[in-house]
Amino acid sequence: MRVAERFDRRTLRVLGFIALMVFLAACAGDAELDTRTDLQGPEAAEIESFLNWVLYIAYVIGAVITGAVLYFWWKFRVKGDYEEGDWPEQSHGNNALEIGWTIAPALLLAVIAVFTISVHASLNDREDNPINLELTGGEMKVWEPEVVVIGQQWWWEYQYHFTPEALDAQRLENLPPADLVTATQMVIPVGQEIELEVTSRDVIHSHWIPSLNGKRDAVPGRQTSPWKIEADEPGVYFGQCTEFCGLSHSRMRMQVVALEMDDFEAWVSAQMEPVALEAGDQAYVEALVAGESPSPEGTIQRGINTFRTKCSSCHMMEGVAEDLWSEERVAEQLVAGAAPNLTHFASRTMFAGGIYYVWDPDTGQFNDNDVRAWLQNPFALKENYTDPVSDEDSRMRGMPNLGLTTQELDDLVALLQIAGDKPSDFIIEQSGVE
Ligand code: CUA
Repeated sequence: MRVAERFDRRTLRVLGFIALMVFLAACAGDAELDTRTDLQGPEAAEIESFLNWVLYIAYVIGAVITGAVLYFWWKFRVKGDYEEGDWPEQSHGNNALEIGWTIAPALLLAVIAVFTISVHASLNDREDNPINLELTGGEMKVWEPEVVVIGQQWWWEYQYHFTPEALDAQRLENLPPADLVTATQMVIPVGQEIELEVTSRDVIHSHWIPSLNGKRDAVPGRQTSPWKIEADEPGVYFGQCTEFCGLSHSRMRMQVVALEMDDFEAWVSAQMEPVALEAGDQAYVEALVAGESPSPEGTIQRGINTFRTKCSSCHMMEGVAEDLWSEERVAEQLVAGAAPNLTHFASRTMFAGGIYYVWDPDTGQFNDNDVRAWLQNPFALKENYTDPVSDEDSRMRGMPNLGLTTQELDDLVALLQIAGDKPSDFIIEQSGVE
């Protein structure tokens, strides 16, 4: 029988199209989340090497099975003088074969299991590795290079603690206040093994920076054993939450910025400081904190005023409104009990869960369009739950529309732009996502 009689042209065309789609789907070039390109550090290398061995074994098995299928297909094909009911000799059951194809894969899987467990153990291996950081002005800090990674709907918080005992707390609620807090962007020094303590404030998320290591679930109420990452080269490494966590799961991204040690020390020094205000603006804040009500002069002072009245019940901004912010107050407003600390907003590459640039990677300019659009109507830019949890529970899961006026928007954008030092041109350029 000829092939064309069995499959008409239309069926063949559809099959051809599907095959082409499957083939093209494998073409992702330099996609940011490619697990097998731009690998950095020993952890990613270890996973890659293990994965390769499993793949080599799978290739051999695949080739043997495909070969056997093709061989039998050819050997027992219908030949010219076939008559209805003319079957080759049939048989049923073969103990030797059954035992063979049960034991062989079991042995193979057992061998792979031994290597899986050993790779896992090595990825979880923990060692003390304190780094002496010399901050600007000569102050020294001893940092056991760990970062507490906290997922919540739909952004990541990164905490740095310079007292190693703090990390023995094991549970999020027992952690003392962090020395340094960032959102959406984790900054690490190159050539250092960084341990991540991954946890969550609400539902299960999964933290994944493909170039630097595999993924690790962020489970509420639990701080899992540390997960290590290391970058060999300065640059920006992309990540994405990989556990479905609700409406904006796909918009829960993050970037790891790896810096040379000097640059990292400068970054830490800057992050320890409040917003750098000019003397007049600082005096304005001091007057407000003292309970006076001077009228604001200029964009920044109006921005400070708006921030204090509209933003400070959820967002911390040191040097501008820390007298108004408290964890308890945030917990009354938000399900996760946390909102990004905005003291160093302008030092970051991305905002709103890593989906908008703070600095445009093409022009290097502050992305005031998206910052303004976000402040004006967050739901238009990123799906969130627009309503409070329930009639009895008024807490929100995302940023509400604050109904800001054009003037308030201008002032807040100006304030956010001076909150933190602009990253280097190299980092801004690298932060671009294709
Ligand atoms: Cu968080 Cu998906």
